Amino acid sequence: MTFHDAALKPDQAVNRRKQERTRLSTIRRRLLRWYHRSGRDLPWRRTREPYRVLISEVMLQQTQVSRVLTQYPRWLKRFPAITVLARARRSTVIRAWRGMGYNARAVRLHGLAKAVVRNHNGRLPRHTAALQHLPGIGRYTAHAVACFAFGQSVAVVDTNVRRVLSRLFPRETKRKDIWAVASGILPKQRAYDWNQVLFDLGSTVCTARTPQCTVCSLEAHCPSAHNVAVRVLQSKREPMRPPLADIPNRIYRGRVVEALRDAPRGSLSAQRLGKLVKPDYTRRNQMWFLQLLRSLERDGLVTLSNGSAHLTVSLAR
Ligand code: ADE
Repeated sequence: MTFHDAALKPDQAVNRRKQERTRLSTIRRRLLRWYHRSGRDLPWRRTREPYRVLISEVMLQQTQVSRVLTQYPRWLKRFPAITVLARARRSTVIRAWRGMGYNARAVRLHGLAKAVVRNHNGRLPRHTAALQHLPGIGRYTAHAVACFAFGQSVAVVDTNVRRVLSRLFPRETKRKDIWAVASGILPKQRAYDWNQVLFDLGSTVCTARTPQCTVCSLEAHCPSAHNVAVRVLQSKREPMRPPLADIPNRIYRGRVVEALRDAPRGSLSAQRLGKLVKPDYTRRNQMWFLQLLRSLERDGLVTLSNGSAHLTVSLAR
């Protein structure tokens, strides 16, 4: 190392940090302005009521916004408060979850409502640590409720946010945990709007397969803009993959719950159920199907009972 290098390096580092700070404040300013002008008007953004925020965030984790837009008001009409949900039968809750997919979420939500009524007087706690202690609440939901209902300055990271941040801050996200990066760049006074705008950016502009870099207000400030566009062009040239040969168990699990929702008294024999969910069902599928039913039982969605002649499957009560 020369005398000059040694003299210049600290300066360069200082300059670089300064540039990064300027870039970050530009990104924040632009995104918050975009949210102010074009943020989506969604029903759960019009409330700060913790239970309503909780329901929307649990629904939004694995279901498209368009689907949640129809299911959210229906759910709130059926279960307007956490106490109503806690009192309901398990099978009623599973039935009401119809149309949402990933039915285990309904069971977790029900268990959570019961725990909140039993241990917290029916009120969701306001801090992330207490929220995360509740059964059925992970880091994402705890942070979302703390921020969107209780105004806490905490980051919220889902798949979309993870993707947006890894494109905007590739060096940082490679070195550090994504939650640490997200909380490091969070504008503490505008945490609500910031977290919400990252959702909007991730689901409308900075999408996984067809990012719209040319209309993005951050294009000039995003180190991935060019790379992402090139990758998308390349993937368009790739031949289509053949369709999946096997239907995943997740789909059969959904079909079982759907068939039971429609069945009189919510029960069917395992044999009949097998034929309903898999038209080419034969005796050779029995072991596989029994294991699938046991996994639904473990998740609290169904109960299995051995009658005199056959195994009966019912929606969990
Ligand atoms: N995805 C997860 N949470 C969301 C929210 N509050 N608004 C829009 N999309 C979301």
